Amino acid sequence: MKIFIDTAKLCEIKEAISWGIIDGVTTNPSLIWEAVEEEKEKGRDIDLTSYIEEICRTAGEERPVSLEVISQEADRMVKEAKFLYQKFNPIANNVVVKIPITTYTEEKGADYEGLIAINKLEKEGIPTNVTLVMTPEQALLAAKAGATYVSPFAGRIDDHIRKNLGIKFNKNDYFDSELIQEIFRCRLGEQLKMTTEEKISDLYHDSRIKHLRGNGNDHGITSGVECVRKIVHMFKKYNMPTKIIAASVRNARQVRELAETGCDICTAPISVIREMLRHPKTEEGVKRFYSDAVNAGYAELFKSL
Ligand code: E4P
Repeated sequence: MKIFIDTAKLCEIKEAISWGIIDGVTTNPSLIWEAVEEEKEKGRDIDLTSYIEEICRTAGEERPVSLEVISQEADRMVKEAKFLYQKFNPIANNVVVKIPITTYTEEKGADYEGLIAINKLEKEGIPTNVTLVMTPEQALLAAKAGATYVSPFAGRIDDHIRKNLGIKFNKNDYFDSELIQEIFRCRLGEQLKMTTEEKISDLYHDSRIKHLRGNGNDHGITSGVECVRKIVHMFKKYNMPTKIIAASVRNARQVRELAETGCDICTAPISVIREMLRHPKTEEGVKRFYSDAVNAGYAELFKSL
């Protein structure tokens, strides 16, 4: 699995690339805003054009950089995508344009603008990263429209499910969806025990049973990781060339579970990548090996270096 860094902060991109484990960069308007704010706090004004140019240059040819459009109509999105691509792709030939899967809102309607834009850009040879994907169905449509990448938002899917369940959580908390499923299975079992005389069809239509089956998931999706797993399965089954970027990642354990799904890429903030490295026993071991090396006189061997 490739690892992309999910940030627009140049210092983070440079640092993570220096570790030798970064295969690409993803940004979005909120991440650009965070980068601008951080520079302002340091008393510096960002010239966004040269800042983005520097991101592309730092990433270099082998690492794709996702830059997002801002409009909601297909024609505008295509114009913005071409603008981004023509302006920044010549720097290192690595620009991918992020298009939302749908720009539908209750006020505006129009579900399909994202799909039209993806399709037009595909025909023009501009690579796309389809963003804000929350279901396998959306991923399927994005792939059919010709997306180069799809980005299911694992963390935001978990947030949605947890919020619906009334679970309090901090942004980076691991979501134990298996525990939730287990709780619902137990409660369903209790209900079934109390209704053994009823016929199957009565049980099937019983709203309490429906509630217990349906709660803890969103249209059959029980977590962000589960959503990614289903997309991986679907794309494999139909040999779809669209690559999957698991996005909106909140903690190291989630990265591991995403890697186990077989997705192509995981994009994570630098804090999560750091968290992947740490373990108290590793820290303890480093200290112990060093002090034992000194005690054994082994450290003397390296003195001349
Ligand atoms: C990356 O492509 C996404 O824009 C990003 O992962 C969203 O993450 P968030 O849900 O933490 O904002």
